[in-house]
Amino acid sequence: MKAPVTFAIAGFGDRGSTYASMEKQFPDKMKVVAVADLDPAKVEKARNLYQIPEENCFSSAEEMLEQDRLADVMVVSTMDRQHVGHAIPALRKGYHILLEKPISPELSKCRELLEVASQCPGKIIVCHVLRYTVFYNTLKDLIQRGRIGDVVAICANENVGYWHQAHSFVRGNWRNSTQTSPMILQKSCHDMDILTWLLGKRCKAVSSFGSTQLFKPERAPEGAALRCLDGCKVKDTCPFDAEKIYITSPKTGLATGDSWISSVLSVEHTLESTYKALREGPYGRCVYHCDNDVVDHQQTNLLMEDGSTISFTMCAFTENCYRTFKAMGTKGEIEADMKSNLIHVRVFGQEEEIIDVGKLSSDLKGHGGGDSGIVEDFLNMLLTDSQPNQRTTTLEHSMESHFIALAAEESRLAGGKVIHLETFKAQ
Ligand SMILES: NC(=O)c1ccc[n+]([C@@H]2O[C@H](COP(=O)([O-])OP(=O)(O)OC[C@H]3O[C@@H](n4cnc5c(N)ncnc54)[C@H](O)[C@@H]3O)[C@@H](O)[C@H]2O)c1
Repeated sequence: MKAPVTFAIAGFGDRGSTYASMEKQFPDKMKVVAVADLDPAKVEKARNLYQIPEENCFSSAEEMLEQDRLADVMVVSTMDRQHVGHAIPALRKGYHILLEKPISPELSKCRELLEVASQCPGKIIVCHVLRYTVFYNTLKDLIQRGRIGDVVAICANENVGYWHQAHSFVRGNWRNSTQTSPMILQKSCHDMDILTWLLGKRCKAVSSFGSTQLFKPERAPEGAALRCLDGCKVKDTCPFDAEKIYITSPKTGLATGDSWISSVLSVEHTLESTYKALREGPYGRCVYHCDNDVVDHQQTNLLMEDGSTISFTMCAFTENCYRTFKAMGTKGEIEADMKSNLIHVRVFGQEEEIIDVGKLSSDLKGHGGGDSGIVEDFLNMLLTDSQPNQRTTTLEHSMESHFIALAAEESRLAGGKVIHLETFKAQ
């Protein structure tokens, strides 16, 4: 294929616009030429940003898919339950696909896509962006080179961040598993993918516990209003107050300029449009009075084929949003986190080595550099017509993370019952 690789974006929301913005980073290799979104303001924004011809702007992915192929690649960044329905016709039209995760919360749909992809020439990769970060590639290299011997156990945490939980999983898009996906698939299929990839082993069995501990009506403080701006009496002391999170917080509020969570509330992203969204839309609701059903904490244990184990905790109740990791091996341990971006390698009896990931990478933005990393890898794969490499998140690899996540959800709903992966996959 010749550069620039052309892109059609199906769903110009947070993710679709992020991938499109890589055109600035790789101007010789990529060009956005078509867009579709239900929201005309988003289509207009994309049209202006990328000088997309009017005839290539569509009011839905379905409408875009009625046309002959418009680009080399289609980015499928619509919502969780739409991905397969958009990816299958795109593959049949000959597009290569950058597919947002999860593939689908329904295994039958994931399998259907796998089947169609095997019959079509287009390449398809799933956006498990962590695999394309310097942080996780350094960990993979250390483990693969046997720096700490055989890994016996991994402890990993996904610190969701109280404000991120409130935004995405209580008030926002992913609050309800029947509309989108269970939390362990939606948020943590990345972790199931990256942790098993780091070990290079298959998961044999899984068990999981978790629930919604806080974000429910019976935990609402006295005096809490149904909407934060409607005279809530506990507004000043509530950390989840929408006005704090979206407007005044120095970390997540409008004033920070690049606050991605406040930018989700309105295309205009102004004080006026944000207040309007808080008064009228879902993001102004009290966190104790939403239609949410996804968990706010979940503990999942994985037994791997060689007897090693992974314990993984996803929890809403953290100040910041980042991942921590500890691997314990027969010859040493590795401790690391994506906040400090430091990796501590302690080979038993030797001096500690500290690797500063920040010094190894020029781009730690957007999932620790994973957002640009995945696009760059995909572009290079298409331009050189090369095969997937060790880190490529193929559909087949991604399916494994989906099996584990959905088995973990089955376990959680059954009170922590052990689910054997082979039996689960055979269903
Ligand atoms: N890889 C990651 O790390 C990561 C991170 C966040 C979200 N995601 C996934 O990306 C997907 C999109 O998430 P987002 O945060 O961008 O959500 P979003 O709501 O910001 O964007 C989704 C967009 O799709 C549009 N849309 C819905 N139906 C459509 C249709 N039929 N045709 C065209 N457009 C349509 C919506 O109008 C919206 O603009 C989700 O499935 C989510 O799980 C992945």
